[in-house]
Amino acid sequence: MKEKKFKRTTVTAALPYANGPLHIGHIAGAYLPADTYVRYLRLKGEDVVFVCGSDEHGVAITLGAKKEGVSPKQFVDKYHALMKQAFADFGISFDIYARTSNAIHHQTSQDFFRTIDAKQGFIEETSDQYFDEQENIFLADRYIVGTCPNCGNPNAYGDQCEKCGTSLSPRQLINPRSTVSGQAPVLKATKHWYFPLDRFEAWLKEWLVEGHKEDWKVNVYGQCKSWIDQGLQPRSITRDLDWGIPVPRPDAEGKVLYVWFDAPIGYISATRELKGADWEKYWKDPETRLIHFIGKDNIVFHCIIFPCMLKAEGSFILPDNVPANEFLNLEGEKISTSRNHAVWLHEYLAELPGRRDELRYVLNSISPETKDADFTWKDYQQKVNSELVAILGNFVNRVMVLTWKYFDGRVPSAAELANTSEKRARVLSLYQQAHEDLEKSVTEMIAALDGFRFREAQFQLMNMARIGNKFLADTEPWKLAKDDMEAVGAILNYALTVVGNLAIASEPFLPDGSANMLTQLNITARHESHRFWNTHTLVEPVPAGHRLNPASLLYRNVEDAEMEGQVQKLKKPVISTTPMAAESHAPKPLKPEIVFDDFGKIDLRIGTVTAAEKMPKSDKLLKLTVNSGLDVRTILSGIAKHYTPEEMVGKQVTFVANLAPRKMMGIESQGMILMAEDSDGKLRLLQPHEAVMPGASVS
Ligand code: MF3
Ligand code: ZN
Repeated sequence: MKEKKFKRTTVTAALPYANGPLHIGHIAGAYLPADTYVRYLRLKGEDVVFVCGSDEHGVAITLGAKKEGVSPKQFVDKYHALMKQAFADFGISFDIYARTSNAIHHQTSQDFFRTIDAKQGFIEETSDQYFDEQENIFLADRYIVGTCPNCGNPNAYGDQCEKCGTSLSPRQLINPRSTVSGQAPVLKATKHWYFPLDRFEAWLKEWLVEGHKEDWKVNVYGQCKSWIDQGLQPRSITRDLDWGIPVPRPDAEGKVLYVWFDAPIGYISATRELKGADWEKYWKDPETRLIHFIGKDNIVFHCIIFPCMLKAEGSFILPDNVPANEFLNLEGEKISTSRNHAVWLHEYLAELPGRRDELRYVLNSISPETKDADFTWKDYQQKVNSELVAILGNFVNRVMVLTWKYFDGRVPSAAELANTSEKRARVLSLYQQAHEDLEKSVTEMIAALDGFRFREAQFQLMNMARIGNKFLADTEPWKLAKDDMEAVGAILNYALTVVGNLAIASEPFLPDGSANMLTQLNITARHESHRFWNTHTLVEPVPAGHRLNPASLLYRNVEDAEMEGQVQKLKKPVISTTPMAAESHAPKPLKPEIVFDDFGKIDLRIGTVTAAEKMPKSDKLLKLTVNSGLDVRTILSGIAKHYTPEEMVGKQVTFVANLAPRKMMGIESQGMILMAEDSDGKLRLLQPHEAVMPGASVS
């Protein structure tokens, strides 16, 4: 990594769409790492701005507003306020949380467009696009569904088929229909402005592919490189919409800037709004570092398209790093807004009050930095109880309580523990070991912060508390208290130093706990903190003789009862709130949990169907003869509407072999065939991937 000299840092966190509340996936993806990083830079005393705001344009907004029956403005007002409040309540320390509907942003975006336009930086082109005549709107690719020409999936999107992964354009869809009205759209000519990304190919190869091979995360670099390798095409940057920033050209009436053109400019306008005349140095001085925190779905926009825009404009700096995260899942499933499978930030804050650090800690420790991660409430409880409470909280509390007990809340002096006794010699060597280990953790923690490895950084922080606990356990001051109070004083003096350093070191990760520790220690530690973060060494924030405040607990155990409600909430049947065709088939809610033994009671086998016939007087049942490997048995199966008897003969099936026989329409059925049921009720056989011997067991 080449060390560039810089004077200040501009940190941005992706502007969230103002179309719904924030969930923990957003937080883990961008806002928590950004906040941790910025807190660290501020503690070092660096000049940093931390900007964010609501992304208030685009079709997602206009359609959301339509669904709620309000105007786009009312819609974004509502969600902007909600998100701004949730961020503030959670303690994300933006210097400004702006919004893209602000006048200053409209002006900044239009200026940006004009500058590029004046250099002939756009291409104008008229083409046919799908138009929804009922709604009177041109349809964005995502709002057209139809049959995939590749795999036949009837619900492929206009930009991609999610079943086979093929990327598509709307014109390739068979039987396209609008997800807004459900009607078939018509083609209509319309003029748009395009940003010719292809002109930047050579430059991108040099700046990104060569220039950031070493210092960008592999997941980020890899995605960019494969995008560039596939070749770049002009991208349209205008839309036919009545909500957005008007394209500043006399011949562009009714057109607005595409949301992904104006949104990243939002970082710039937010800085202008915050800094007034002083804003430019945060965006134009080559000695400023620009860092974008985002989730992986935003990589191409921040690493390729926005840098090309900045380059085309000509007066701006480029991002130095884009430490994008992968996705966070929830209880083993994708977080889904439409299925309400999410932990909403504002609900978390209301339902688990006073537990901000806990969420920060857990999200940070599972941060999806290199691959997707999974949040579960069980793991949350476990990490809080066995790490925050049992390691950090416990250490701090023991030190405080012991100091009150033996020294009445006054910091004892660090008596020189010369080799006057064997016991003292032992304490001395334990102290030296602890000190060495601590310094190593501090160095590694700071290196990890510098490298955007927040998981590891926080691990090193917790390690400091671990070392502290070990030091107390090994030196056993409560035993020495019988005959050597000076040694006890020396131990606690050092233990308090460790607590002081923990108070300083934890600020970027656990701001509430940090403040609490400082209060208990009765210090502010500003100078020491500055030294700590700049020299990467332990400091001495608690001088001998200093008076402590009473001890109080840093963290409380999370009880099962607290978790119960959260877990239940996620299991509630999901109500689909979106009219979008492809999303409305929610799977059935989960059945109550079973133990392994429950599962073990079911004897599942593979058998081969040797004969099949329709059951007289039933349009549902087929009578199957199955070679089960153990016997030849008759099984009745309700699949007549999905398979013909001819189709079934010779097929391998999975069946429950030890189900009590049941008589139906005069015939005993000896088992049950397993079927997958689609959300539209269609049944499909479950078969082994390759043929197996009849009687093979399934587990
Ligand atoms: N609103 C976008 C999203 O939620 C992110 C925009 S980031 C910015 O995916 F670049 F536009 F700011
Ligand atoms: Zn497909």
